[in-house]
Amino acid sequence: MDFQIKSIEQYHNVYKHSVEQPEEFWADIASQFLWKKKWNKVLNWNFKEPYIKWFDGATLNITENCLDRHLAERGDQPAIIWEPNDPNEHHRILTYKQLHHQVSMFANVLKHNGVKRGDRICIYMPMVPELAIAVLACARLGAIHSVVFGGFSAQSIADRIKDAKCSHVITADGAYRGNKDIPLKSVIDDALMQCDSVKKVIVLTRNRMPVSMIKGRDVWWEDEMKKMETLHEYDCPAEEMNAEDELFILYTSGSTGKPKGVVHTCAGYMVYAGYTFSNVFQYKPREIYFCTADIGWITGHSYIVYGPLSQGATTLMFEGVPTYPDAGRLWEIVEKFKVNILYTAPTAIRSLMQSGVEFVNGKNLDSLRVLGSVGEPINEEAWHWFNENIGKKRCPIVDTWWQTETGGIMISPIANVTPLKPAHATFPLPGIQPILVDENGVEIKGNGVNGNLCIKFPWPGMIRTTYGDHERCRTNYFATYENLYFTGDGCLRDEDGNYRITGRVDDVINVSGHRIGTAEVENAINAHTGVIESAVVGYPHDIKGQGIYAFVICEEDTHEEDLRRKDIGMTVARIIGAIAKPDKIQFVKGLPKTRSGKIMRRILRKIAEGEVENLGDISTLLDPTIVEDIKNGRI
Ligand code: WT7
Repeated sequence: MDFQIKSIEQYHNVYKHSVEQPEEFWADIASQFLWKKKWNKVLNWNFKEPYIKWFDGATLNITENCLDRHLAERGDQPAIIWEPNDPNEHHRILTYKQLHHQVSMFANVLKHNGVKRGDRICIYMPMVPELAIAVLACARLGAIHSVVFGGFSAQSIADRIKDAKCSHVITADGAYRGNKDIPLKSVIDDALMQCDSVKKVIVLTRNRMPVSMIKGRDVWWEDEMKKMETLHEYDCPAEEMNAEDELFILYTSGSTGKPKGVVHTCAGYMVYAGYTFSNVFQYKPREIYFCTADIGWITGHSYIVYGPLSQGATTLMFEGVPTYPDAGRLWEIVEKFKVNILYTAPTAIRSLMQSGVEFVNGKNLDSLRVLGSVGEPINEEAWHWFNENIGKKRCPIVDTWWQTETGGIMISPIANVTPLKPAHATFPLPGIQPILVDENGVEIKGNGVNGNLCIKFPWPGMIRTTYGDHERCRTNYFATYENLYFTGDGCLRDEDGNYRITGRVDDVINVSGHRIGTAEVENAINAHTGVIESAVVGYPHDIKGQGIYAFVICEEDTHEEDLRRKDIGMTVARIIGAIAKPDKIQFVKGLPKTRSGKIMRRILRKIAEGEVENLGDISTLLDPTIVEDIKNGRI
């Protein structure tokens, strides 16, 4: 970890060098990883197509960086500490040696079940060590994993499996989440009724809820592992991957109705996740690092699995939720394992803050050294609560801004190096060149300004394409402004050059740190019987950050309104997943539209936010009287 920045002066020097000599800078970082063959050229790029190649000509396997290379020095050190949902169940520890062994064995299981390099594998699992093992086993073979978060519906899984033409699914019988049992296999079975591409399903035993196992298609994880024992198939050589071979696909929502498969590649992603993990958290050998995210999201990919393991860290995985059995659960875990670094989300902080400090009192949090926040803007109140009650004003809070598409943290303080400013992500990490632009793409220079956040130079962890549709990648991210990657976020830059991300400027809502496309929710609502049209916007929500507000036009309906609301919620849960259920549904007679038929979301957003007095110019509306009706019916 020779690349850890230790002072703000050093940060400024490194940053300057990284911008002036990016290839030299990244070559130096990359040389601290394990390669089978070195690169010919550090970077080839243009943002027009886009065409992005990092470390071209190099070969490697990311699992050798995450596992093999640590065996000599720290084979007996915990790689993964796992804490179950239920505090009465025993925790598990996997050392680097044990994790290496499990990954090799499971990679052999995959091989015996027909998985080949380049195949796409859908993973739908609870937060257990086997999820990390499955992900790493795919990477070991050069198979491309597509992890789907356990909260998505059968329909969402089917869409993702079909888009990537997955050949295999790895799942579990069920999952424990808080006081609920979630039937993962049964959801997969529903999904697979639509998916011909899937040849095999490997099922882990977790909560042993009854499942149907289809002959010839479904096999148990444990049985397959035993077979490998009998065959003495312990070792699995790591496939030699090209730098730009695909490592994984992760689906994320955008402003259109269909989620897109963000593609990350082997070398650049690894270098970026490892470098940023080490620097932002200033991880020191043998520290216990705890990220509360789910591996179903990019935060879990980069900062539970690949980033920490590539740096030989001990990463703590938690199966449950922060509020079960009570709101003291995270603090109990911190105390139990003497956690040094805690990385969580504003929505969790706000919900624990609301439960009250009595759940923190009496817990020993002395081990904590660094706190982190990710997923959405952190409001000042939550920032201060976190700082005072958890960090006891001794721990820096790193407010890390990044996206599924960026692969790793982009704008963030470096712990104990960067001066903090509450609710500000502060400065770009080395190699990252943010710029603010106005609607026409003209750069807004200087400080004390705000605009749309773009990045003007490639970084190793960036998105390469959207799976199966490169044009979509171009139009989504590289066509809004010429020669710039557009993030979709609005941003302020204060007098001192600190960045503060203010939220999405496109039709994406950030609910509890989860990205939901308004068009996706509208499509789901419109699928409900009797619905004629709908419009969905975000509104400020005390705990979730943003809530989902739906304006819905229905045919005459005899059902009671409240029941109809619940029915619509069911349809959305069925089509997308429970995470996309609207928080509020207002039935309306019409929607505010321009003469050309475009819905004026600006007006709906204002009404949803409760700003009914100041709606701006509504004279261009086809029927301005509709606005009055909607205002009166506001909930
Ligand atoms: C969007 C990306 C990055 C992993 C989790 C979310 C918002 C993320 C911050 C932050 C303000 C943030 C942005 C971004 N966001 N981190 N520290 N401050 N906003 O990944 O689902 O790809 O969502 O989350 O709006 O565009 P994602």
